[in-house]
Amino acid sequence: MNGVESMFDRTAEDYDRFVSPCRVCQFLVLAHEMNFKGSEKVLDLGSGPGLLSAHVARLLDDGEVVGVDLSDSMVRLASQRAHSLKLSNLRFMRGDAMSLDLPDSAFDAVVSSYLLHWVPDMNRCFTEIRRVLKDDGRLGIMVPSLARYSELREAFRRVVSRYCEKDGSRRISEMVGLRVMRREEVLPALKSAGFEVEKDFELNLRERLSAAVCLDRVKAITWERYLEGVPMAERDEVRNELLREFERNCGMGLLTTESSIFIIAKKRRGDQV
Ligand SMILES: C[S@@+](CC[C@H](N)C(=O)[O-])C[C@H]1O[C@@H](n2cnc3c(N)ncnc32)[C@H](O)[C@@H]1O
Repeated sequence: MNGVESMFDRTAEDYDRFVSPCRVCQFLVLAHEMNFKGSEKVLDLGSGPGLLSAHVARLLDDGEVVGVDLSDSMVRLASQRAHSLKLSNLRFMRGDAMSLDLPDSAFDAVVSSYLLHWVPDMNRCFTEIRRVLKDDGRLGIMVPSLARYSELREAFRRVVSRYCEKDGSRRISEMVGLRVMRREEVLPALKSAGFEVEKDFELNLRERLSAAVCLDRVKAITWERYLEGVPMAERDEVRNELLREFERNCGMGLLTTESSIFIIAKKRRGDQV
């Protein structure tokens, strides 16, 4: 089991609890941009607790959604969601986005939210997506952009770097779960994997949160890996200081920014890679 898999196995329930209203709005935008007709077979790659998959499944009268995720806990959680929502056209399975146990040309569309910054090799992932898509099949992806949680990242940088034994900025840039991406990284990789980009745009949504909820949410998506450079005996103090830093900002109305890049692309036909 690799580090990402075991992290999401441990944080699945917290992750599910902290999916923000902003993120849910972004799911609606992604699904809207995909312009489903209703009979498509759709793959949700890195489906996590299955909220996007469930939304897409509801849009498909005559189609179906398969969610694939590396983490068993996520697959379990998402399957329970499909069951309790009585969505019979939605199922989940465990799998690795870089080596999918799915046949060629099986899907009309692939959606994927906040997966790409977790995979070790984005190019391999795009090649797999292309393989399982039919010709002219469409891909809709959402990745975190630079503005995402910028207020939180700055607070972390200020506080954690003071405690880090080594290079604080290096530790912060490795902060799991808060990595962001640039369109310049993603678009060329997509094109060279055989996709034609139809549309890309960024959407920023702002949300007011209490300091405690902020810290809990960041814990859920980082597994507190940001504390790795801090001596054990000082970790509680770092947590308290982060809370105080957030509370200071809360005085002015702490806002977090859920900011994503959306990319809608189409598989180029045949072997035009
Ligand atoms: C940040 S969560 C996003 C979940 C969901 N798509 C959402 O937007 O709420 C990333 C998910 O990708 C999964 N994941 C990470 N690496 C993966 C891989 N190589 N293949 C499949 N899933 C992966 C994780 O287990 C986790 O559930």
